[in-house]
Amino acid sequence: MIKIAPSILSADFANLEKDVRIVEEAGADWLHVDVMDGHFVPNITIGPAVVKSLRGRSGLIFDVHLMIAEPELYIKEFAASGADIITVHAEATNHLHRLIQMIKGEGKKAGVALNPATPINILEHVIEDLDMVLIMSVNPGFGGQKFINSAYEKLSKVRAMIKSRGLDIDLQVDGGVGPDNIGRVVESGANVIVAGSAIFNSRDIPAVIKLMKEAGSR
Ligand code: DX5
Ligand code: ZN
Repeated sequence: MIKIAPSILSADFANLEKDVRIVEEAGADWLHVDVMDGHFVPNITIGPAVVKSLRGRSGLIFDVHLMIAEPELYIKEFAASGADIITVHAEATNHLHRLIQMIKGEGKKAGVALNPATPINILEHVIEDLDMVLIMSVNPGFGGQKFINSAYEKLSKVRAMIKSRGLDIDLQVDGGVGPDNIGRVVESGANVIVAGSAIFNSRDIPAVIKLMKEAGSR
């Protein structure tokens, strides 16, 4: 069974509680929270205070995607704010192994994200410690970008890596995914699907979530 993780980057920031409730009632599995700092990516979004406020209003799994420089400095705070899964970018640290241990030391699930140009072999010596791998299918920073096709092959290669090691971890895809290409990302091996604009820019959010679940389960 695939999981749908709506990205609140495309939600109405003045009405976050309302938008989170809509996706939660529509059967979303996780809530994807995009944290951007204006350094690692050219955009600024949400910090731990917002995560903490939302935490009190939702029972969804909080999947916090850190697109920030020096993530080491903020793990404790995001853990305390109520994140369930904390995903860091391999490109944002020289000490990926230590950073993963830091997240797990806070009792949280750990994910590693790879930008479109980052090779998957960087996962080789850490994958056994991970709960999730995130393959970026756009260059991070903004919602509504076009899916980069090389992500399909990356997903199948990471899925093969997970299988060959007998691991049971999530493989997430993020960027440019909607009802039209969810079938192919799932076929390629993704089981957690992030979608921002496809969900929040729609006039019928429950219908899109339902459609994506169906199209991804075929
Ligand atoms: C991109 C973010 C994504 C973004 C996806 O930098 O990490 O989570 O919200 O948005 P869509 O689904 O619109 O590409
Ligand atoms: Zn994201």
